[in-house]
Amino acid sequence: MAFHMNECIRKTKQGIPLTNAEITELVRGITKEPLIPDYQLSAWLMAVCFSGLTDAETAALTMAMRDSGQTMHWDLGGPVADKHSTGGVGDKTTLILAPIVASCGVFMPKMSGRGLGHTGGTIDKLESIPGFSTALAPDAFLKQVQDIRCAVAMQTGDLAPADKKLYALRDVTETVDSIPLICASIMSKKLATGADHILLDVKVGSGAFMKNDEDASELARLMLAAAKADGRDCTAVLTDMDRPLGMCIGNAIEVREAIEVLAGDADCELGQFCISLAAELLRMAGIGTKEICLNKAREAVTGGAALERFAQMIVAQGGDASVTEQPEKLALSPCSRTLTAASAGWISSMQSETIGRASVLLGAGRMTKNDSIDFGAGIRLHVKYGDAVSKGDPLLTMYAAKESQLDEAEQMLKQAVAVAENKPETRPLIRNMYSTADE
Ligand code: URA
Repeated sequence: MAFHMNECIRKTKQGIPLTNAEITELVRGITKEPLIPDYQLSAWLMAVCFSGLTDAETAALTMAMRDSGQTMHWDLGGPVADKHSTGGVGDKTTLILAPIVASCGVFMPKMSGRGLGHTGGTIDKLESIPGFSTALAPDAFLKQVQDIRCAVAMQTGDLAPADKKLYALRDVTETVDSIPLICASIMSKKLATGADHILLDVKVGSGAFMKNDEDASELARLMLAAAKADGRDCTAVLTDMDRPLGMCIGNAIEVREAIEVLAGDADCELGQFCISLAAELLRMAGIGTKEICLNKAREAVTGGAALERFAQMIVAQGGDASVTEQPEKLALSPCSRTLTAASAGWISSMQSETIGRASVLLGAGRMTKNDSIDFGAGIRLHVKYGDAVSKGDPLLTMYAAKESQLDEAEQMLKQAVAVAENKPETRPLIRNMYSTADE
């Protein structure tokens, strides 16, 4: 039967499932001639937002997008792992987790992205290390993974190109926040990258794309189904983004914090979080039981192997590895200002989206696509959720190139940290965990 895009739009609008053949043709027309015009793709995306897709359609869309470009296959003589975060504030997990996992014997070829909106991106963070290159040629990427088991590079243009095109359309047509579309976008790229074991960090809360547990669980369920349909081993961890992750938000300042953890600080909240996630990946990769993997991941941090691996990765990607011994070489911007508590009490909320937006105003993110980043800009938190404070205690320090940026961000940040009279209830960072091995 001939393919007609207007038929697909009508069916999706009316909640009639598309066939696999229709989805394959639709995705083919995103990148190959005859191209489906943007206005029809946009109309279909909006229909998906209102009517949804069935699980089978979501899986078919994911696979077709996976196959729209190059798919990677690894033959490294050991388990290959990957990790993806759905995007958060202060999320420097990859910088800590990749060297831990690699130093424990698992290969981690990782493709990462730049910051998006109020959320930061691993590529921007790594580029704050002087000389560090994230644009690796395929041969160099492979050689580095063979030599030191980890590499973090910018996603190549030929990996799931249908997602690249659709994502750009979704961005400007208010169709980003559809769970099946997010699933297909993330999983097409993850499956194309070729890892056997995939850890998905699904952020949930005010600073995340998924604002509540119900939506986050639904996204996790769909992503696990896509991984399973493709024969991959996958765990989805729902993690709290009602507060920033760790104590620093920005680029150089987050690399500094990652180095502090890798230099042996296994017990801080961020250290424990990254060790738990790394241990789950090691367990999936067959390194041992949950307990053995937790011990291994912890030892990699306390014994220095993970920091050494991070230094090797920096050298391999052309960067100055002396920052791992002297993190202060990662310069912070010259203007700074500290905000203090107006009253005594307990830190009862830290609005991560507001904090993320303030970090963008300070220069740590982009307002428009072509903006350049001030790597030294950002925020250091002095308190975390649940801490007790006295009146006048420092809450956070902002760093920026200009005083006027501090003025603007201060207005925003005044609202972002709440101090209450009563101690708030404890909230774990890891809210839930699902796996393709469940059932
Ligand atoms: N990240 C992605 O790669 N795609 C989405 O749709 C949302 C977050």
